[in-house]
Amino acid sequence: MKRQLAYFLFIVVALLSESCASVNKKRLEKLIPQSVNVAVRQAYAMSESLKSDTMLLPKSVDADGKLLTSDSRWWGSGFFPGSLWYLYELTGNDSLRMLAENFTKRVEREKWTTNNHDVGFMIYCSFGNGYRITENASYPDVMLTAARSLSTRYNSKIGLIRSWDFNKQHWQYPVIIDNMMNLELLLWAARYSGDSSFYRMAVSHADKTAENHYRPDNSCYHVVSYDINTGKPEKRETWQGYSHSSSWSRGQAWGLYGYTMMFRETGLTRYLDKAKAIASYLINHPNLPADKIPYWDFDAPDIPNAKRDASSASIMASALIELSDFVDAKLKKQYLSVAESQLISLSSPAYRAEFGTNGNFLLKHSVGALPLSSEIDVPLTYADYYYLEALCRYKRSVLNK
Ligand code: GLY
Repeated sequence: MKRQLAYFLFIVVALLSESCASVNKKRLEKLIPQSVNVAVRQAYAMSESLKSDTMLLPKSVDADGKLLTSDSRWWGSGFFPGSLWYLYELTGNDSLRMLAENFTKRVEREKWTTNNHDVGFMIYCSFGNGYRITENASYPDVMLTAARSLSTRYNSKIGLIRSWDFNKQHWQYPVIIDNMMNLELLLWAARYSGDSSFYRMAVSHADKTAENHYRPDNSCYHVVSYDINTGKPEKRETWQGYSHSSSWSRGQAWGLYGYTMMFRETGLTRYLDKAKAIASYLINHPNLPADKIPYWDFDAPDIPNAKRDASSASIMASALIELSDFVDAKLKKQYLSVAESQLISLSSPAYRAEFGTNGNFLLKHSVGALPLSSEIDVPLTYADYYYLEALCRYKRSVLNK
């Protein structure tokens, strides 16, 4: 009798979880076109507001809601061009392709950037997406130049790319978890050019990061600085998180995305294992709220009143959708369930802006660097980028469209 009851309950739970999954899928089938519609109109308005000066790119808004721009030097300069590429991919609309080409040109000079690791974000999100979608024959040259610029920051004795050059009195050789994202440019360059040195740098960087950035619970530090003489970690700290020992949310999301990408690009199962371990830490975290939009730091002291970070949710959703294609059916369901909740939350009025508001950005409520009193509860161009990427991935992988 007991066994029959247990079996009956098992069937009920299985049926309920199946029906939840199909409800989420149906909701997203409706929400995605609505989000794309608002995103396209916002993107046109944003482009229009930036047309007077061909150096301008969007960043965020100030306290009065006024648009803050950057030139291509800012680390996030490639995200708006990349968002335009995703919108072109989502709609097939040629005027969006023209805008994407135009804004992609604005960041070209960053291919020469050698004073930080962000050249990967700048060039791969813009030119990389443009090349993936259109195979524009002039783009690989820009991307290869950028990969060479990034590789100048690799120190073979330490086996890592140096992320930052500032604060030299404090850090001998700082490497941040965000740097994992820029390995994608190196792996593309290895494949395209046949030069395996790019591959070796990326693999070494990812291996050392797994070894030295990650704690036993699979959360990670933001910054690990290395001793330049011994090549060993000298400091484990934060810059944008709550404390050295806390889990800064965007950093956790960069790591999840980074190791998922490393598995996709190399096929090495140690990266898949790492991505699964990070995913498990994140999706089971007691401080992940019910709507699955992380607080800006998983250890923020004022949880549940702490600010949320939509950018972390977007990055995490995009990574989980990709990771769901590499795992067994049980994990796939878990990952997609969290990613779907994130996309549903981000597509709701709580996070998705109305047309004509929010400085023409799509998502509200991100946090750039709270300890630096910078970009707190604002739209951020990269939150929009990873949200649109996640929508593309969900359509392709789950809706088969
Ligand atoms: N890569 C910079 C940031 O995540 O804020």
